[in-house]
Amino acid sequence: MEKNTRGNFTSNIGFVLATAGSAIGLGNLWRFPYLAAKDGGGLFLLIYIILVLTFGFTLMTAEIAIGRKTGVGPLQAYGHMDKRFGFLGWIATAVPIIIFPYYCVIGGWIVQYGFTYITGGAAKQIYETGADTFFSSFITSHWAPIICLLIFMGASALIVLFGVEKGIEKASKIMMPILFLLIIGIAIYSLTLSHTDENGVKRTALDGLKIYLVPNFDGITFSKFISILLDAVGQLFYSLSVAMGIMITYGSYAKKESNLVKSINQIEIFDTGVAVLAGLIIIPSVFVFQGSEGLAASGPSLMFVSLPRVFEQMGILGHIIGALFFVLVLFAALTSSISLMEAVVTSIIDKFKIKRSTATLITFIGSIVIGIVVCLGYNLFYFNITLPNGSPAQILDILDFITNNLMLPVVALLTCVLVGWVCKPKSVIDEVSVGLGGKKFARKGLFVVMIKFIAPVLLVVILLQAFNLLSFLN
Ligand code: PHE
Repeated sequence: MEKNTRGNFTSNIGFVLATAGSAIGLGNLWRFPYLAAKDGGGLFLLIYIILVLTFGFTLMTAEIAIGRKTGVGPLQAYGHMDKRFGFLGWIATAVPIIIFPYYCVIGGWIVQYGFTYITGGAAKQIYETGADTFFSSFITSHWAPIICLLIFMGASALIVLFGVEKGIEKASKIMMPILFLLIIGIAIYSLTLSHTDENGVKRTALDGLKIYLVPNFDGITFSKFISILLDAVGQLFYSLSVAMGIMITYGSYAKKESNLVKSINQIEIFDTGVAVLAGLIIIPSVFVFQGSEGLAASGPSLMFVSLPRVFEQMGILGHIIGALFFVLVLFAALTSSISLMEAVVTSIIDKFKIKRSTATLITFIGSIVIGIVVCLGYNLFYFNITLPNGSPAQILDILDFITNNLMLPVVALLTCVLVGWVCKPKSVIDEVSVGLGGKKFARKGLFVVMIKFIAPVLLVVILLQAFNLLSFLN
């Protein structure tokens, strides 16, 4: 029984929370709200939710089922499905190998901010210096980001070292409920905000909420609609942590008798729910204090510059909200980073049949080296190049671009080809049906059409877009 020696989730809720923990990450918190505000509010939400139930459901089901069926990590799972697809295991495993180190660099930045807020140092350190100067001088300094990286990666490694049940499952069962409480609590607070600026203009959270939730059809043309659709597809499969070996890894720890359809529904509800709630925190609060212009920021500048400015304007309460917020972000990032590390560790264990502790140590050392290089990308190794999509980039952005825009769509596309055309959808449908207790897999027809036709087309379009090959649409 090879499977038992690899570890298993002991309960269904453990599996769901760990997998939702992987899915819920920085993408939910710093990218989803921004895209929603930019892409016509409720219109984006509507498109996103339809995609979650179709495209997201299909990719997630395929990967979790492959994991459970083969009982091995991503490096070998594709080859077990069909020998000719062994190469895909290498690409899929390369993704977390590349993402894990730079994700931990960002995790380190969160550690720094969390520490500053929790120890009450925000006013003196961040606000006095100015949020943008503080952020840029922090990431360009020599040692602080590396130390923070070590702390964050060390915490991830420690959890992974304890294994599936005592490490990942347990940590997720503690962190995820706290994360849910924090995000609901801060969202409620954010909805009560209002502020009158120096020109006497009063803005309330409810005005911000309108930008977020009411569908805005102004200036919607065909090409604009396509670009919203592509934003939503891109966001979705990054957000669900598919195409990076993680769902196969966690699927391989799922019990045979568990109902995968129900679990996947729950994971999607958690992931989408947290993304929507993050929007309820960020959009009203940024809008109240900074107006619509504030909503143009996403990614690091939203989290590390715009939001600290918002907390500053909240006065004394801002310190508490800031501290709680960064704990929330820390938990979201940590449950994602352990899933990345686990995908690598499990592949090493399966391939070389070595102990978990040795595999964890190897992964840790290799990732630290890459992580330090990423940190040094902001000082010693500083250079400036422009990505095909026009954004300026350092080492972190380059790794992010290669994985998110290139490797993820390629892995997802080849997975669709493997399941849809080579092994046939029945291979996954049979696996899913195992835990349904005699009931039918209700979305079977949808699954087949999505995996064979619609998902591959969407993924090809995403790839073309990454290289600006769709610019003729504009
Ligand atoms: N799904 C994560 C998110 O939404 C992204 C992610 C998870 C990236 C795990 C890497 C590893 O942020």
